[in-house]
Amino acid sequence: MSDPSPTAAADELPAEPWDRRHLVGLAGMSGEDVTLLLDRAVEYRRLSEAGDLPSPLAGATVGNLFFENSTRTRNSFRLAAKRLGAETVEFTEVGSSVAKGETVADTVRTIEALGVDLMVIRHGSPGVPHRLREFVTCGLLNAGDGTHEHPTQALIDLLSLRDAFSQDGRGDLAGKTVTVVGDILHSRVARSNIHGLRALGARVLVCGPSTLLPRHLPGAEFFTDLDEALAQSDAVNLLRVQFERQRGAFFPSPAEYYRLFGMTQARLNRSGRDPWVLAPGPINRGIELSSEVADGPRSLILKQVANGVFIRMACLATLMEGRR
Ligand code: CP
Repeated sequence: MSDPSPTAAADELPAEPWDRRHLVGLAGMSGEDVTLLLDRAVEYRRLSEAGDLPSPLAGATVGNLFFENSTRTRNSFRLAAKRLGAETVEFTEVGSSVAKGETVADTVRTIEALGVDLMVIRHGSPGVPHRLREFVTCGLLNAGDGTHEHPTQALIDLLSLRDAFSQDGRGDLAGKTVTVVGDILHSRVARSNIHGLRALGARVLVCGPSTLLPRHLPGAEFFTDLDEALAQSDAVNLLRVQFERQRGAFFPSPAEYYRLFGMTQARLNRSGRDPWVLAPGPINRGIELSSEVADGPRSLILKQVANGVFIRMACLATLMEGRR
């Protein structure tokens, strides 16, 4: 059996209608499908706050397979699974038999053989979750595949924006303008955000150094002047500069990046817009944003983390139903 990594360039992977058996990306997902998952997350949040969570995953086992580092995604998937009644199997590449030469495909099939119903997977190569559908029968959830997609992070960002725009978590994103700032070229979060925001009718701007903007990104308008983009924005999503994925120098120095693209309170004030501030994390203070902004009243960063559990509950429960 061949190993499914590496597979395709991020831009070559197909957009597919959602089959509710797997969640490999938001490309191809309709606004109704996105809304269904967001509404379901809101309902799980309500039930959780009421101490009345159901157990739709009772008797099920969720595999959490992380071939790349994670703090937020891995822990929130685990909490979501457990709080809905599932058992979990935890796999991280460090300390695993990958070091003895086991391939991704054999690792995944081995974990599935332990009795896994749903498998969460993060891998550094674009398309690995897509390809793995040929290797396993369990439901697959993409927790980030290289520079391609990070669908549950985008759903978190959408829910956090809906919360910001309304009291009941059901704010309308149609007609809102959201600017995604930073290392767009290497960002799976940017791609999933663009798909999700466009599906809900929002306008999407991307802004960063020209060296970190891809040549084609359907659905987004391109900016290299952050102040110009900010003057039109209801919210900004600040991406981490992904030094680990970069081959070469894309800008002169972190200090130069911060001067041109770092979010400071002075820059927010200058915009005259008071936009909401999101960041998928991990954040680098003094590169993407100042501490004043990260910890300020318009920051949604920790609300995004909290929403991660409810979004992942919604995704796990929906995929479990798709298997029945
Ligand atoms: N946003 C995000 O994916 O964070 P982690 O890498 O910590 O999971």
